[in-house]
Amino acid sequence: MSKPQSFVPSYTRLALEPYTPNIGAIVHDLQLADAIQDEITRDELRRALAEYEVLFFRDQALTPEQQTEVARIFGDPDKAKAFFPRHERIASIEVIEAKPGGHVYRTDQWHTDITFSSNPPTGTVLYAKVIPPAGGDTLWTSATKVYESLSPGLQAELETLRAVHSFEHSGWPSFFLSQPDGEALYRKARAEHLPVVHPVVQTHPITGKKLVYVNPNFTDRILGLSRQESDELLGFLFRRFERPEFQARLRWERHTVAIWDNRATQHYAAKDYGSHHRLMHRITFGEDRAF
Ligand code: SIN
Repeated sequence: MSKPQSFVPSYTRLALEPYTPNIGAIVHDLQLADAIQDEITRDELRRALAEYEVLFFRDQALTPEQQTEVARIFGDPDKAKAFFPRHERIASIEVIEAKPGGHVYRTDQWHTDITFSSNPPTGTVLYAKVIPPAGGDTLWTSATKVYESLSPGLQAELETLRAVHSFEHSGWPSFFLSQPDGEALYRKARAEHLPVVHPVVQTHPITGKKLVYVNPNFTDRILGLSRQESDELLGFLFRRFERPEFQARLRWERHTVAIWDNRATQHYAAKDYGSHHRLMHRITFGEDRAF
């Protein structure tokens, strides 16, 4: 898709403070519960998310129903989901909980949510319900900045390539196998999520920016290359995502909300808080086609 000429961000309702020069913004003085009601604010939120790739909001009071309506500003909250337990009342909310004796989810890997699906979510709303006394930060990195950092020759080469994505070498198989009847759960997940192929370079449909669309958690190999070539090229690209200049690191407070563009970013949840309790409510949202 060519770059839409009309993409000129400007804001009248949102007080936006860039979080780093390359990625992220804090949105000040806004209760998302109020934003649900106002079409101008909703439109500015959509444009700000496309421009900054991840948005942070402090001190938010949201019921599960309101969090769902916030997700609906950006997309359909009932599209692609991962395998986390769901909220007891609102099925579109995934409950990501770390607690003593509980499962340790491997969100401490760089990933774009659910790229093992043929139509991954376009974004995510994450709401901090319980945070540890220190640690448990989340980091995001910009896939558009990674693309822009590459030389034109490599950009052109990557644009000819496609990669296989699967959940097989992520943390999900060990999650299934830790559950009662885990073998059956694993078999079912495999049958329902066959490996999928995505282009290595995608074009963001709103900004028209190109981005590198491979991640260490779910990208298995690049088609048409030997295993060694594929591992080395992917390793090079994954290291590029680790550059601090392309990242934003959020120190959560209770009731902080982060909303990210799941096409243009990867994220990593730091697992440095021992056995402390951390509880997040996550809603992925999507469209009929992510790209
Ligand atoms: C996720 O990987 O979507 C969750 C990130 C987090 O818990 O901070």
